[in-house]
Amino acid sequence: MTTPTLDTAAAALRDQVVAWRRHLHRHPELSFHEHETARFVEATLATFGGLELSRPTPTSVLARLITGRPGPTLAFRADIDALPIQEENSHDFVSTAPGVMHACGHDGHTAVLLGVARALTERRDILVGELRFIFQHAEEVLPGGAQALVDAGVMEGVDLIVGQHVWSTLEHGRIGVKEGAMMAAPDTFFITVRGRGGHAAEPDETVDPIPVAAQVVMALQTIVSRTVDPIEPAVLSVTQFHAGTTHNVIPEEAKLVGTVRTFDKALRARIPKDMERIVKGITEAHGAEYEFAWQDGYRPVINDAGVTARVAAVARTLFGDERVVTLEPTMGGEDFSAYLEKAPGTFFYTGAGAAARGITYPHHHPKFDIDETSLDMSLKLFVAVALDVLGPDRS
Ligand code: NI
Repeated sequence: MTTPTLDTAAAALRDQVVAWRRHLHRHPELSFHEHETARFVEATLATFGGLELSRPTPTSVLARLITGRPGPTLAFRADIDALPIQEENSHDFVSTAPGVMHACGHDGHTAVLLGVARALTERRDILVGELRFIFQHAEEVLPGGAQALVDAGVMEGVDLIVGQHVWSTLEHGRIGVKEGAMMAAPDTFFITVRGRGGHAAEPDETVDPIPVAAQVVMALQTIVSRTVDPIEPAVLSVTQFHAGTTHNVIPEEAKLVGTVRTFDKALRARIPKDMERIVKGITEAHGAEYEFAWQDGYRPVINDAGVTARVAAVARTLFGDERVVTLEPTMGGEDFSAYLEKAPGTFFYTGAGAAARGITYPHHHPKFDIDETSLDMSLKLFVAVALDVLGPDRS
């Protein structure tokens, strides 16, 4: 009889990880309400033995594998929350919670990290330093769970951090990496245009906020198109326009809501000022009034070049060069950025789409699904990264 290697142990774990993922998929919980999920994660981790477990916030779990041998501290992060979506899939592990669904794959992230924790806990004898597993609540809803965990000290002493997202629009069998700017800062704005309501047949007696707000919407389009360096990524989208109640009443006010996505710090600071100037000018020109509010979203995800290259090299060794692809930056947001402010790290994508089997729906869609072979791939990659940083042949 031979001693099982980490590889065969990981292979044996594959079914368990899938089972965990399906359990979590059946029992999704919304951001900041992940009580049962956190309990499940903590209870599962407790069965591995040798992990120091804590609850930095009511619905997050931190697991520390402290080897007692000198070495770096490496952190891995999984987000654990679900979305307010009614699932429309028909597989046999659909959500049992009405109107709540793991439609972003965080069930997969959680299951994979449990698998990584189990594989490496079993082989703690060959590791140095410390491995930290962060099961983070509330990635989907501002202010996000990551900053709360940073404030609770989970990054203290961490030398590098790695996180992932399973990605349904990247075909399975691929790992996507991106050095530098990867995901944008997703900020939100709220504009109220206040006029004076009245009878729709007597517009001259009113200050109609609707045409004023419509002009605001159009004028805001010139910020990105006319004032931002064409090479610099930026998005400004007005996504809500609410006004009025019926056909013969001019309303008092119109409300606009939308999002601005940027990478550059100076640009991010400038755009709300430009927006307010435009809103002020247009509303004043028409004798209306305004309110302008801005809510900072997550900071942009900027991956460290060295850590990204290291994870990419490990992935190439594991899976072959052709399976590791370089991603384009996206204007989506991720609060993984909060950890990157504290230590160098990288956030990679694991391809989870399967066009041949119809697994192509985008994230946050009621028919979102993942190819579960992606779980095995990210499990192997996390374990190999841990060995590369803390293992016997560490580089
Ligand atoms: Ni997500």
